[in-house]
Amino acid sequence: MARLPILVAPDPRLKVKARPVEKVDEPLRRLMDDMLETMYAAPGIGLAAPQVGVDKRVLVIDIAKDGDPKTPLRMANPQLLWVSDDDAVYEEGCLSVPEQYADVTRPARIRVRFLDHQNEIRELDADGLLATVVQHEMDHLDGILFIDHLSNLKRNMILRKLSKSRKPLVGA
Ligand code: NI
Repeated sequence: MARLPILVAPDPRLKVKARPVEKVDEPLRRLMDDMLETMYAAPGIGLAAPQVGVDKRVLVIDIAKDGDPKTPLRMANPQLLWVSDDDAVYEEGCLSVPEQYADVTRPARIRVRFLDHQNEIRELDADGLLATVVQHEMDHLDGILFIDHLSNLKRNMILRKLSKSRKPLVGA
């Protein structure tokens, strides 16, 4: 496994709509594992392939708390089958928007269909933090960052802070 460099906004590669994968084969499994290693090291709870400069609809997630057993999720071509009418608000951050946080409103519960690391079709019902993280990572596959859910004023404030504090990315 290998750690991959994480792109930071406003890198244009973060704004691209990523391409579906044909199937989850050995090279793609390796990408998923490298993404998990990169995410754990950051540390983060989710990472999408465009954040490491790979134009594929692939993401990884693990919301297990520090010290708890790992619960990695690997998804290719995720698709939302259903979203709830009720919303939830979480303070979100992003490895590509380091050290910036803001409240984002999203559907509270979702059902997602995806290809797992064995190339099997799976469905997952998620609520709470997991529902938010899945939607946050799926946004990345369409070139959308959490700051794109904020007002122009807030987004520009964050982008200005990012360009001032540019430094080698190690975490957040
Ligand atoms: Ni993110």
